[in-house]
Amino acid sequence: MGSVAERYQRFARVEAKGRSPVYEAFAMQVAQSPDIIRFLERLPLDRQQPNLLFAAIRLVAGIPPSTQELNAALREHADAIAEVMLTRTTQTNEPSRCATLLPALVQIEGPLALIEVGASAGLCLLPDAYGYDWGRQRLIPPDWAGATAPTFSCEASAGTPLPSRHPQVVWRAGIDLNPLDVSNDEDVAWLEHLVWPEHEGRLAGLRAAISVAQQILPRVEAGDLNHDLPELIAQAPSDAKVVIFHTAVLSYVSNQKDRDDFARMLVDAGVIWLSNEAPHVFPQFAQKAGPTKDDMFLLTANGQPIAWSGPHGQSLRWISQFSPGVMRRICV
Ligand SMILES: C[S@@+](CC[C@H](N)C(=O)[O-])C[C@H]1O[C@@H](n2cnc3c(N)ncnc32)[C@H](O)[C@@H]1O
Repeated sequence: MGSVAERYQRFARVEAKGRSPVYEAFAMQVAQSPDIIRFLERLPLDRQQPNLLFAAIRLVAGIPPSTQELNAALREHADAIAEVMLTRTTQTNEPSRCATLLPALVQIEGPLALIEVGASAGLCLLPDAYGYDWGRQRLIPPDWAGATAPTFSCEASAGTPLPSRHPQVVWRAGIDLNPLDVSNDEDVAWLEHLVWPEHEGRLAGLRAAISVAQQILPRVEAGDLNHDLPELIAQAPSDAKVVIFHTAVLSYVSNQKDRDDFARMLVDAGVIWLSNEAPHVFPQFAQKAGPTKDDMFLLTANGQPIAWSGPHGQSLRWISQFSPGVMRRICV
């Protein structure tokens, strides 16, 4: 795992570089600041992450205008920032990931009962409410989603089967360790501060999706993906096809055995299962997808790789067609 300084240097060089000059500079500053490192070392290991620290500082004190003022903000507001870091987690909800899920979803014969695992505020539970622009193909948001519904852009590779319609979703529900509530101002503020500072397009998309979700109020239950899913599956209407999906969740389950147990449970449940995750979380699926793309997520259907996807839904590299009927034979 390395020292706090090493982790922040790595975050600066690998994660923030080229994506957020502000966070890159902040992370390098943390790595060189004994006082900030001491502050972080007093927190539990799983609360020392850069994304959590920087979102908490922004929530409490705004964006420090310089790296020196990062230290000052932390000195001045240490208790309030620590409080946020102990009570909140990095629950970034990225509705534009729906642009990478839709080509798979529309190939499944509906009507669909959607279950999202690790749903955060449930914004990805509304793929049928958003508009999409894949370059060669566009879908406008349905009228029922209202005038503020976002349109997400996604650059898709030539072989991607681009949808000409939305999926027919007749039932939806999510599960999360800590559901966020789009009608709660503090939860909404936290979601907004989790978006990196320069990512204004993502922030606009998030806000637009929240405005849709505030009308629909997607249901997200508190629960653990390894224990509480069967109960939710049992509630889905019997005349709809159950599709269970998750994006950017399984890396929070640290034990590979727990991840594999979860995968086996879904295959045994006889549902259709879409996983959109960093490739390392299911190495057994990633090895079937050719050379690993570490900066992409791998989209699989019942363990079968179907596409590499941009982690924020910004791109899609289709691997193969898949047949939902055949997917059940795939073992994990
Ligand atoms: C990075 S967020 C992703 C949210 C959403 N899937 C998206 O792509 O926008 C990860 C979410 O997974 C949830 N999570 C992590 N471990 C979980 C578990 N064992 N059971 C249920 N939810 C979990 C977290 O609470 C968090 O809301």
